[in-house]
Amino acid sequence: MELRVKRAPRIDTEITVPGDKSISHRAVIIAALSNGPCTLRGFLPSEDCMRTVNALRALGIRIEQPDPNTLVVHGKKRVLTPPKEEIDCGNSGTTMRLLAGLLAGQTFESRLVGDAALYRRPMDRIIAPLRKMGADILAEGPEQTPPIRIHGGSLRGIKYKSPIASAQVKSAVLLAGLFAKGKTTVKEPSASRSHTELMFNYFLVRTAKDDDGSVSVFGDQVPESRDFAIPGDISSAAFWLVAAAAQPGGHLLVRDIGLNDTRTAVLGVLVRMGAQVREAVEDVDQLEPRGIVEVTGAPLKGTVIQGKEVPQLIDELPVLAIAGALANGTTIIRHAQELRVKETDRVAAIAHNLRTMGAQIIEMSDGLEIHGPAPLRGARVASFGDHRIAMAFAVAGLFADGETIVQDADCVRESYPGFETALEEFTNPKRMRTSTPVIGSLSPARLEPE
Ligand code: S3P
Repeated sequence: MELRVKRAPRIDTEITVPGDKSISHRAVIIAALSNGPCTLRGFLPSEDCMRTVNALRALGIRIEQPDPNTLVVHGKKRVLTPPKEEIDCGNSGTTMRLLAGLLAGQTFESRLVGDAALYRRPMDRIIAPLRKMGADILAEGPEQTPPIRIHGGSLRGIKYKSPIASAQVKSAVLLAGLFAKGKTTVKEPSASRSHTELMFNYFLVRTAKDDDGSVSVFGDQVPESRDFAIPGDISSAAFWLVAAAAQPGGHLLVRDIGLNDTRTAVLGVLVRMGAQVREAVEDVDQLEPRGIVEVTGAPLKGTVIQGKEVPQLIDELPVLAIAGALANGTTIIRHAQELRVKETDRVAAIAHNLRTMGAQIIEMSDGLEIHGPAPLRGARVASFGDHRIAMAFAVAGLFADGETIVQDADCVRESYPGFETALEEFTNPKRMRTSTPVIGSLSPARLEPE
């Protein structure tokens, strides 16, 4: 499939986005370990999340899907059964890394496989801590890449100081910790998304957080079965938030999205770049804050994205780079070497495509320097098989002369089924649902110092 995009008309609309990918993975895993049935609403039925669902089914968990966004997960008090065959994680790094943590706690052997892109992604980051906990785990690929073979069993709690801020690493270790003796603690160089800890707490699993930011889970606990409603994914909303922010006078309201403060750094960046951004948390009953975001566009100016902010907007960097290309002045993204080991090397992919569209961009080992504003010209660009690259360049197409064609864009289904339909709303004024500004009643998005 190709995405064909033309310059956007005036943006003035109100949208919702599909369920949060990170929260969907965690909700189904923790529900599967619980002591009874759990109904999960707002589940993201994307290819990545369905890999996790099917993996849990292969491990003996009954999961019904009465409609695409609803799962009924029949938790079996942490009892999993040996899979009959290898487990296919497809393109999903989250599935492979979180499952590795879960499987490290099981006495049987399992093998996790995936697609060619997943086979290029590093697994040493989870193998090292899981081995320390006592799991027998081996990467079969060169340089500790997948497939991975796991033989788990009696694990011991550890204190793990992770060299990288990665929620996937933290979550793999904490999931293994649920099956370990004693307490398992993870300390990161800076905070990554907190969904696993929150989901544990929601399912009444005891965790602890120390002043130094480290997170712990106590072993031998069974999550209490509960229902959960997953909020919209702010990383999916980010494509439209940037589109509205970069169009002076553009206006967008996104309802019912996750506003966990380890995920909202993108809003602060848009404020720094000159957009007017407001947010209101409407509900925290399920521990994951959810609410509304409103953006009014302006002529954007360049900014610097670096340090602790990076892990908290890692998935938004491709589309923020597009904002940078449209902004006046220089935008610098640093300390983002993790982008090089995502579904593709996102630093190289962004640089390549933005150059094809006429932007001036310098590639650095850990990021990008983008000299805006670029008069973007429509072009044929590659997705590199990476959903966020495909979607970011569809947004670039909304600001380019002529037509932009994003090739090989089926990958958008990894995280955003329905992206094409949403994109049509942004290119066809008749499809927009003009919304009344509510800005006065919302509070400004948090602004982090540069
Ligand atoms: C995710 C964490 C991030 C992110 C990925 C989803 C998660 O990866 O890029 O899309 O659900 O834990 P890292 O933890 O490796 O940075």
